[in-house]
Amino acid sequence: MTYAANLNSLALVAESSRYRFVEGDICDSCLLDEIFGNFKPDAVMHLAAESHVDRSITGSADFIQTNIVGTYTLLEATRRYWEGLPESRKREFRFLHVSTDEVYGSLDAEGLFSETTAYSPNSPYASSKASADHLVNAWHHTYGLPVLITNCSNNYGPYHFPEKLIPLVILNALEEKPLPVYGKGNNVRDWLYVDDHARALELVLRRGVPGEKYNIGGRNERTNLEVVEAICDYLDEKIPAATVECRRDLIAFVADRPGHDQRYAIDATKLEDELGWRAQESFETGLRKTVEWYLANENWWRPLRSGIYGGERLGLLADDKVRVKPLGRRADKRPILVVGRHGQVAQALDARGFDGVPHVALGRDEIDLTDPGAVERAFAAHNPGLVVNAAAYTAVDKAESERDVAFAVNSDGAAILARLCAEAKIPLIHISTDYVFDGTKSAPYVEDDPTAPLNVYGASKAEGEEAIRGLLREHVILRTSWVCSSTGSNFVKTMLRLAENRDELNVVDDQRGAPTFATDIADAIGVISARLLGGDGAYGTFHLAGSGETTWCGFAREIFARSSARGMRSPNVIAIPTSDYPTPAQRPMNSRLNCRKIKDAYGIVLPDWKISLGQCLDELLQNADMEGAS
Ligand SMILES: NC(=O)c1ccc[n+]([C@@H]2O[C@H](COP(=O)([O-])OP(=O)(O)OC[C@H]3O[C@@H](n4cnc5c(N)ncnc54)[C@H](OP(=O)(O)O)[C@@H]3O)[C@@H](O)[C@H]2O)c1
Repeated sequence: MTYAANLNSLALVAESSRYRFVEGDICDSCLLDEIFGNFKPDAVMHLAAESHVDRSITGSADFIQTNIVGTYTLLEATRRYWEGLPESRKREFRFLHVSTDEVYGSLDAEGLFSETTAYSPNSPYASSKASADHLVNAWHHTYGLPVLITNCSNNYGPYHFPEKLIPLVILNALEEKPLPVYGKGNNVRDWLYVDDHARALELVLRRGVPGEKYNIGGRNERTNLEVVEAICDYLDEKIPAATVECRRDLIAFVADRPGHDQRYAIDATKLEDELGWRAQESFETGLRKTVEWYLANENWWRPLRSGIYGGERLGLLADDKVRVKPLGRRADKRPILVVGRHGQVAQALDARGFDGVPHVALGRDEIDLTDPGAVERAFAAHNPGLVVNAAAYTAVDKAESERDVAFAVNSDGAAILARLCAEAKIPLIHISTDYVFDGTKSAPYVEDDPTAPLNVYGASKAEGEEAIRGLLREHVILRTSWVCSSTGSNFVKTMLRLAENRDELNVVDDQRGAPTFATDIADAIGVISARLLGGDGAYGTFHLAGSGETTWCGFAREIFARSSARGMRSPNVIAIPTSDYPTPAQRPMNSRLNCRKIKDAYGIVLPDWKISLGQCLDELLQNADMEGAS
């Protein structure tokens, strides 16, 4: 199951004796063999796919894996099972592969896709589905597997994950948030109500001719803008908007999706003539049913909106994302408040700025997080529109003997900020750490992994996270690792300092992680804050670390390889185990963070740590030159 799957959608049939649920991966051929052996099916309907074009633009690997490798694995497992069936069951067996009209490419103003239209897929999604269609065809021609392929137009209806256009617009319009429309909104899609699609699939499975393909379409062509306007008008009719005169005012035209197909339209004559299928819903009746369903089923979609997916637009390349601005909304003139002014990340943020939004950075003397009165006074004085908390008690070893101070800053301080942000109804971006984990996992940590800090610092940060989640829905918690910059004290600067008078350095080589540079964190926060202020950012906890990974020893060697190339002194680095370098606070052996979620939600991928290290060293040299010159 991926992010788009939701067992709640199956609640209605959960108790049925004709239904079984097995959680598994279609790329797992052993599991598939086991399932075929246990259930001995008469047919397979293959509906599993990564299906969101926007996601395929920023993360195509999953599409290749699931849609191509997964289809291949399922075909092979099916063939193994099918070849062992008795002749009569073998003849009746069917494999129905559910595909898309996007394999045909894009149409101009005229014409329709028929079953004989040549494939011309344009997006990573469409090309992965086209590849799968070809595999299915080949398994029929080569092995005689009785396959059927359907290619349908854009579906919509109940239980649709709220990243797709229609549910996204219904829910954003309901909450009176900006309604992002690509380009001019003139791309045309042929809309098919999901129940009509399901009826067609059942018909093709029962009556279709093996080896044939069937197009399924509702003959309901609409431009994206027409779809969005129809939803706005229908919702206005049902529930008048509170913040705008009419919901059409919420429409925001955003940078177009790269390679956006202009028009899709399906000719469903074959299905209609040969199998007698007809779409039962017009676009108007289907849309009304869909809106009514979302209004009546908030308990289904609300957790998805506030959890994994908050209603932001995906699939824009990183540069475009920064430019996205909702129209029809008054820009917030209040400043962004950065707490922790003298820290590494705060300094990088202060230097970078927030793309035209004013900001104020305050140090401990102006906003001491252990003093609630001081925090309240700072809020009253600056009336921020968003807060970034880059302040923390970060002395990991010292925290073991200063537990109260660490918790006062990292937990109680975070809670005060969250409470004041909740009262002011503004978002909080808070920085946290990989030290909330115990480092025993063998793979990079994902956001949902349980926290189990090994030291006081990690425990205080974990408690701070929890406090924020409990007090403020509008939060973005960014867990990062091994932060370095040309300012402050950090591993890069410590190594360079030690290199000045040591010929040999012992460095731990069994803790793995990714160095993350403060300037990269600042860039990410710039993008996130612009999206949050624009009303289309995702809330929640995200991992954010430099790309690539290494050990502290590998990091040290890279520092010296690069610093010696810049004419600096370089010692011999000796790899040692953690057991030879005891510290008051225990460190996690695995600090690696899986950063997929922030890539999906915000299009953010931090640069490779080695590239940022080079920039950091250049900055350090520049600063040293300037100090030398002054
Ligand atoms: N450094 C890392 O390797 C690392 C790794 C993972 C996550 N993080 C997280 O990343 C964030 C930024 O880290 P960083 O490396 O930029 O930290 P940093 O350089 O140590 O800066 C922390 C800042 O917090 C301020 N601060 C401490 N106590 C405070 C209080 N009571 N009230 C107000 N401000 C206070 C400090 O002020 P003074 O200058 O007055 O002392 C300092 O400027 C932190 O949340 C940290 O937990 C860091």
